[in-house]
Amino acid sequence: MQNQTSGKSSDQGGSATERFSSSGFILTAIGSAVGLGNMWKFPYITGKYGGAAFFLLFIICLLVVGLPVLLAELAIGRGGRGNASTSFIRLSKSKYWGGFGFLSIFGAFMILSFYSVVAGWTIHYAIISFSNVLFQDADYTHRFTSFAASGMPVLWQVAVMAITGAVVAKGVSGGIEKFNKILIPGMLVLLIVLIVRSVTLPGAMAGVEFFLKPDFSKLTTESVLVALGHAFFSLSLGMGTMLTYGSYVERRQSLGQAAAAVGAGDLLYALIAGLIIFPTSFAFGIEPSQGAGLVFMALPAAFSAMPLGGVFGGLFFILLAIAALTSTVSLLEVPVAYAMDKWRLSRNKAALWTTVLCCIVGVPSALSVGGAFSGFTIAGKSFFDFVDFVASNIILPVGGLIVTIFTGYVWKKAGEEAGLTNGMFKLWMFVIRYIAPVLVILIFLYSSGIISGGEYGK
Ligand code: PHE
Repeated sequence: MQNQTSGKSSDQGGSATERFSSSGFILTAIGSAVGLGNMWKFPYITGKYGGAAFFLLFIICLLVVGLPVLLAELAIGRGGRGNASTSFIRLSKSKYWGGFGFLSIFGAFMILSFYSVVAGWTIHYAIISFSNVLFQDADYTHRFTSFAASGMPVLWQVAVMAITGAVVAKGVSGGIEKFNKILIPGMLVLLIVLIVRSVTLPGAMAGVEFFLKPDFSKLTTESVLVALGHAFFSLSLGMGTMLTYGSYVERRQSLGQAAAAVGAGDLLYALIAGLIIFPTSFAFGIEPSQGAGLVFMALPAAFSAMPLGGVFGGLFFILLAIAALTSTVSLLEVPVAYAMDKWRLSRNKAALWTTVLCCIVGVPSALSVGGAFSGFTIAGKSFFDFVDFVASNIILPVGGLIVTIFTGYVWKKAGEEAGLTNGMFKLWMFVIRYIAPVLVILIFLYSSGIISGGEYGK
């Protein structure tokens, strides 16, 4: 890959006149990719779908389809220099594509509305772990369900949104980039402390083995589709986030290198998260395939049993909170960039209104995991699960498909913007045209329940 740019498309007005610095952009994009997906979802789906064999599959999916689509999103953003809708319009000169782009803006908003709820749980858990309140009663399932059934998650969700809104309001380089430049390296320090703790626990090696020694007999078609879907979610694809970030990237930056760095960062954080969670679980006899409750209901038992467990537990949940916040910031930027362009709002106003709206839409999610809204179901699902389902399982793959079709068949100058060498360009186009769309359609058919299997993301 080489660092060449087309230098053709002009920098048109709107939100996309702001710019990232080069290293800041890579850290910020890693911040978006690394999130609850790596620290919360990845460990439990890995536990459920085959341990190390699943991890290997996830790596293949990241490399083969994740990175090419990531590069395509970044290129559309930088080439179009607009928000997740106008970039498509500028590059295709057709309003229809703007409508497709809008779908992903809506998706980002929906994901944010429930993702911020889980982010809120992590802050609450960090506090009660440091103060040892978490360990007063050994029934951690009950602690979690009674917390989720109270009104507290709403307050924590609002706190998460307030932080997110404040960062986004400060702008691309003064807010978003600065926030990530401090927190992403900070997160690495926390991860190293926690990894040293987890792998030195007696009995930890069984966990390391489970995570790193593949047993391919455990793989099913379902694991393959889940790994693919997760590669998309984990790289923040299909939601206009990488596209919007791409619109703030300098022309001289190599997008190919950036995409590779983001993929490597995402993988590294997933690897470390696994090396914290599996050894800890195995050392204390916890089943890693417990599902979504692994982190909030099972791991506290492990922390309570280790020396200085409150501190390690607290650090672990802070880590989750940081990972989540750097992703919520990227999600909020998508509708904010749109609102700034569409209604000519100042960044402050756009951030304020989208934050408020997201808090309101998030309330039923925050109250539906056992809370006041738990009796309210849509298509047999709680509000939280329904929004997660529509956003993660329908809008995300459809958004990904739009990106591949647009880059492969509609936008003729994609190659110039991506700045790849000839060989790499051919490979990229081959994947974007023929491989990625087929796989994305498969993810969609599977995760939406049209072909058999459970739903991804539960
Ligand atoms: N990639 C983030 C994670 O793994 C989630 C995310 C999805 C963020 C889509 C932005 C857009 O947690």
